[in-house]
Amino acid sequence: MTESALRQRHIILGVTGGIAAYKSADLVRRLREAGAEVRVVMTRAATEFVTPLTFQAVSGQPVHTSLLDPEAEAAMGHIALARWADAVLVAPASADVLARLAHGQANDLLTTLCLATEAPLAVAPAMNRVMWLHPAVRDNVSLLERRGVAVFGPAVGDQACGEQGAGRMLEPLELVRHVGGLFGPRPLQGRRVVVTAGPTREALDPVRFISNRSSGRMGFALAAAARDAGADVELVSGPVALETPPGVRRTDVETAGEMHDAVQALLDGCDLFIGCAAVADYRPAQVASGKIKKREQQMQVELERNPDILASVAAASPRPFTVGFAAETEDLQGHAEDKRRRKGLDLIAGNLVGQPDSGFDVDSNRLWLRWQDGDCWLGPASKAQVADELIAFVADRMSKE
Ligand code: PMT
Repeated sequence: MTESALRQRHIILGVTGGIAAYKSADLVRRLREAGAEVRVVMTRAATEFVTPLTFQAVSGQPVHTSLLDPEAEAAMGHIALARWADAVLVAPASADVLARLAHGQANDLLTTLCLATEAPLAVAPAMNRVMWLHPAVRDNVSLLERRGVAVFGPAVGDQACGEQGAGRMLEPLELVRHVGGLFGPRPLQGRRVVVTAGPTREALDPVRFISNRSSGRMGFALAAAARDAGADVELVSGPVALETPPGVRRTDVETAGEMHDAVQALLDGCDLFIGCAAVADYRPAQVASGKIKKREQQMQVELERNPDILASVAAASPRPFTVGFAAETEDLQGHAEDKRRRKGLDLIAGNLVGQPDSGFDVDSNRLWLRWQDGDCWLGPASKAQVADELIAFVADRMSKE
């Protein structure tokens, strides 16, 4: 799909100053192998890491480095480049270029042509993990996302600085796939998708509750991936500290009961339901009206069952294509398959939790997918990437129904 999506497409690759710039030479080759024509624009800092000659050799085209070079402007100036582009990809995108793009600066060739182009803009951030988590960078990235800039990655793993975490540029082949997605078919176009995410909270008294460690990241990534695939997405979320992905409608709930009701209200016309929320199976049978006092050495809390949201969606008629998750600490495949059968699901994503690179409250994940007549693994990779792959997989299965 990527190959045909990129055939004869004009891609401007912006390279900025970061050690990942060395991978961008391979990215040029991979984009060309997929059929794209590539022109490279480098910032001054990028030329400190890799020479323009390298990019000239791999792209077969002159490399553009300066806004105020009369010779370059005479050949193909920033406006001509901006018009030539079918898409602009900045990879690696440093913290500096993200800030300059977010604030509409035009102080070099790359940022100027990003303002002057009508083509879709994508960035592949690459930086130290602490920089990536800095509130200034987070704000700049979400501003860019709100404006429709596609953000590819970053990946999680070993960093050039010796640290471990989120901040690596995605590998060239993954970037080629993402750039192809800017042009390719949108497999969930016209579909309505409901995703649940995050934990639920079950009150014990006015100040205490029973909950779990779900951050909502996996469910939010799924909502964003479904939106990118063209779907109209409703996200029903428990209490989390995440921004709503642009273009996604969100309903906030607190308890399993509220989540159940919110989902039921959204089921009409729903084509795909993904239950990623970590829903409390039980709630306190009684909620104290005042703060419970410390009296006895031991205390017992009676719990009662919550409604099973996923099972109720799967039992509806007509029902959407229904995907559940299974969070397990042992015998992942046995328990996940048991849940798939018991709840009558089209697909289950078994998630080994409590691991440093998968499960609750981490940036990466690994899922075991199981459907009636097969199974496969996704990841380990960032939750964003796993979400993209899961959505592509589900869209493919839905198209065969
Ligand atoms: O949010 P993150 O920090 O990114 O972490 C992601 C995750 C680990 C929460 C996610 O990947 C995941 O595994 N979600 C399912 C968590 C869970 O509650 O699993 P479970 O095995 O207890 O439940 C099985 C399925 O039934 C789930 O789809 C759940 O949403 C659903 N369920 C459970 C109980 C209930 N009362 N109603 C339900 O719909």
